[in-house]
Amino acid sequence: ERSLLGLRELSADEIGSILDRAAYWESQTEKVIPVLKNHFVSNMFFENSTRTRFSFEMAEKRLGAQVLNFAAAVSSVEKGESIYDTVRTLESMGIDAGVIRLKPVGLLADLATKVSIPLVNAGDGNNEHPTQALLDLYTMKKHFGELKGLTVSIIGDIKHSRVARSNLWALQKFGAKVKLCAPTSMQAPELGAFASYVSMEEALSSDVIMMLRVQLERHAEGILKSAEQYRLEYGLTEDRVAKLDPHVIIMHPAPVNRNVEIDDAIVEHPQSRIFKQMQNGVPIRMAVIERAVK
Ligand code: CP
Repeated sequence: ERSLLGLRELSADEIGSILDRAAYWESQTEKVIPVLKNHFVSNMFFENSTRTRFSFEMAEKRLGAQVLNFAAAVSSVEKGESIYDTVRTLESMGIDAGVIRLKPVGLLADLATKVSIPLVNAGDGNNEHPTQALLDLYTMKKHFGELKGLTVSIIGDIKHSRVARSNLWALQKFGAKVKLCAPTSMQAPELGAFASYVSMEEALSSDVIMMLRVQLERHAEGILKSAEQYRLEYGLTEDRVAKLDPHVIIMHPAPVNRNVEIDDAIVEHPQSRIFKQMQNGVPIRMAVIERAVK
């Protein structure tokens, strides 16, 4: 039984074995292989989600697990119950693992020391989103064959992005070079010790262009002054994509702000892997859930 709280502390070997196991699950033609039919997994989302929430549920159901979905908005959290009391409540009822998304950074690591079930991080504040980065690595590895030697540019709202952090920690373990690109108001200066901030022109010369969503819900007043100005300076516009080398792939964790960080016509461009990333999220989460409870 193993928790997955982040990729910063996970070895390249451990990450590699999750990617290999995801490839195994992806290769299975049967939709449901009920190896976890005697296990109960709860998806506890204290922050909104579409992709992560449903691909965990899809993964759990494909493994035959019994799934309990918890949404804070229709729970006793609305009466003031804490996240800790919520998790302890579900643990006391007999769940075998919990998938958790929450806002406060640091709370998940603390929770993991207080409960005995494995916990899987489905995104905690701007700290980590390990299964997103795993599916991103899986997508890159499938396309390029290996991660070593790749250059990956992460462009956009890095300050608020757990996706950027998990990708940075994981990609570097495999010998990929990460470049960061963001306006000053969206930079995370502490990440400058691990990867360089570069111009948009330099960022567009990488093998992988990973765009990030402008996370308006996490912004203090005034970080994004003009969506149109942001698009002109940092957006992946049709004009910019027309100049990309044909081997380059375009990624974005989604949801996307169309015509802000990425043009509408680019979301399903032949070089885009955005929906492929979502597809790959299911076998990745099958591997992660299996690792947690078996
Ligand atoms: N990429 C991602 O985490 O999307 P959701 O917020 O919809 O889960």
